[in-house]
Amino acid sequence: MRKFLIAGNWKMNGGDQFTFDLLSFINNQKPAISEDVDVLVCPNFVSLSMAINQLSKSDILLGAQNVHEAEKGAYTGEISASMLVEAGCSFVLLGHSERRAYYNEDDTLVHKKLQTVLRHELAPVVCVGELLDERKESRHFEVVKTQTLAAFEGLTDEQAFQVVIAYEPVWAIGTGETASPIQAQEMHAFIRSILAKQFGEVANAIRILYGGSMKPANAHQLLSQPDVDGGLIGGASLDAKSFVSIIEIAESLTNTVREADSPTTLEEH
Ligand code: PGA
Repeated sequence: MRKFLIAGNWKMNGGDQFTFDLLSFINNQKPAISEDVDVLVCPNFVSLSMAINQLSKSDILLGAQNVHEAEKGAYTGEISASMLVEAGCSFVLLGHSERRAYYNEDDTLVHKKLQTVLRHELAPVVCVGELLDERKESRHFEVVKTQTLAAFEGLTDEQAFQVVIAYEPVWAIGTGETASPIQAQEMHAFIRSILAKQFGEVANAIRILYGGSMKPANAHQLLSQPDVDGGLIGGASLDAKSFVSIIEIAESLTNTVREADSPTTLEEH
């Protein structure tokens, strides 16, 4: 059974004070997290050290929102994987749609970053997802397949196992629109079917998160889907109460028979 991962992507919000306050609230409201759920927060780079101090007595994991693909060197303004490890990160987001859209990150660059991150034993969370027009034109499966295959190209089974995928339909990010549980499940099962072709059984161990306006009101339905293994949460992760309540929803679902035990539809599109 895959362990849920509930991840907060804080984006470019808040500095040290905000990080201190938000993590204090979360720690107070949720002093212990079930062993069946991993919880991750991804603050901005300069607040990573504030975050790691706040997390020293907590089970919450730390991640970054981006990384440079090179080991080191003359790349003004960039941050390397070894710096993230030193700062206490264990995860890093890669290829978020905002990075693809505003910083021209393409599949080739995302793959290079992924290889760098794996060399440093950081766990990559690779974001994939289609634009609204691509869905309207029924190209969403093709787009997500291309992104997924490019990210995983040439990886060994052991490497693939370290990777987390976040399916984030771009039309659902920050818009209040959410993919329906059926749409999410359909895409997650599809992604798993692509991975199964390349990695066989390992595909069943790879976590696929849903992202795009996940909040307490829709988290139960989304996380109940057999192939939805957690959430990458933007807006709702900036509010301690909402984030904690999503964690608690995930915890409650680990004790129930997730629809996961029903056979997954592995469709080809
Ligand atoms: P959202 O963001 O939850 O605000 O839609 C998700 C994300 O961009 O990762």
